[in-house]
Amino acid sequence: MNIKTELSTYTKRESFTTSLGVLAATLGSAVGLGNIWKFPFMTGQNGGAAFVLLYLVCVLFIGLPVMISEFIIGRRAKANCVSAFKKLEPNKPWYLTGVIGVLSAFLIMFFYTDVAGWVYSYIFKSASGVFNTIKPTETANVFSSFISGVWGPLFWQWVVLVVVSIIIIAGVTNGIERMTKTLLPILFVLLVICDIRALTLPGAVKGVVYLFKPDLSKITGAVVLSALGLAFFKLSVGMGCMTTYGSYIGDAENLPRNALRVALSDTLVSILAGLAIFPTVFAFGFKPEAGASLLFITIPAVFKAMPFGQIFMVLFFILSAIAATGAMISLLEVPVAYFTEQWKWSRTSATVVSAVIMGGVGVLATLSTSVLSKTLVFGKTFFDLFDYLSSNIFLTVGGIFICLFVGWKLGKQVILDEASNHGILNNQTVMSVFTFVVRYVAPVAIFIVLLSGLGIIKF
Ligand code: PHE
Repeated sequence: MNIKTELSTYTKRESFTTSLGVLAATLGSAVGLGNIWKFPFMTGQNGGAAFVLLYLVCVLFIGLPVMISEFIIGRRAKANCVSAFKKLEPNKPWYLTGVIGVLSAFLIMFFYTDVAGWVYSYIFKSASGVFNTIKPTETANVFSSFISGVWGPLFWQWVVLVVVSIIIIAGVTNGIERMTKTLLPILFVLLVICDIRALTLPGAVKGVVYLFKPDLSKITGAVVLSALGLAFFKLSVGMGCMTTYGSYIGDAENLPRNALRVALSDTLVSILAGLAIFPTVFAFGFKPEAGASLLFITIPAVFKAMPFGQIFMVLFFILSAIAATGAMISLLEVPVAYFTEQWKWSRTSATVVSAVIMGGVGVLATLSTSVLSKTLVFGKTFFDLFDYLSSNIFLTVGGIFICLFVGWKLGKQVILDEASNHGILNNQTVMSVFTFVVRYVAPVAIFIVLLSGLGIIKF
């Protein structure tokens, strides 16, 4: 049984049958725009290597334990992210953690669909040859004139939502799972090709230094919070995604090992993207702090600088669109699983209602680069607000409660049972470290980072 069929026959509680299926589904959720778009742009905005270092620490010591925790909750309860808490701790407010998760899925989709729309449109832009007649340094103009329009970005955002909804309604996970398994490796190879070209550009070394040589003076409370938020966003944790997927994982699977594989592979993809983008930034004189536009100005420039670049560029954006779509499927699945199971809606209504809300409110994010660019809420455009609130607040708060729930409510014995498959696997040492981390280290660390990132406490 593959994931899509499982998702569509949700109430029967079927499960993934192969370890590779589990890995493909969870990795398919983790790898997305976060790697190729958000990781490089945030690294650029937060000063380079010091941020990367913080990010790696957050992935390993916080993101990974939260992912294992979510798998444990999901597999133990075999239910969507809200019902899971209700099942394991009936009549207690713990289920609100799942509710925050459903809200996070909406918040993320409000802006994620906008960026995914940019990627979809870039498939056609690069195929049409827009980039053939311009200089590499002029790619920024193409991007800014596109996003400062109103109808173009809106059109593509809705195309994205229609595509994702159709996949969710059709319940064709079979296709998606198979696609992820074959296409993720191709994306990987393309990134390596980009890396080779980027690294051999004159002046590329500066980009490598920027990515790997930390300047610790750049670190502030806000930067640490952004790194933590990015780690949660990247690994799809702190909401309900991995809990939902965890509920489809079979009893024989090794949960900690799968989580570790996802975290490592995902991080590798981000680093490869960074190695394609930063050398290009320095070689062509772009600004590392260009923000959300970084991917869309550097990638066309690097492809323009190689033979058959146009073909590679089209391929690159197709694969990126597929990776983004895989992530969005897992995001949309969170509310859909909740509405179908808890509220007994049909899968079609749950999908259509969720997508309409995402598209409706998402308009605010999309217009943030045009007519609403001057409309600020708490000093941020809607786009930035949705992004900041979801990663830095919702996912991190969700993460605290997920850790507390597993560490203190489910407790040592359940952790041991789930992580060792009732004593079959020998994960003892890993488990005592894990138990300590989810009980004390992760929740306290997240809480402190949150307070200092918000400026409530200062060091
Ligand atoms: N991890 C995805 C990415 O990097 C985004 C995502 C966040 C997906 C949260 C699901 C849940 O693009």
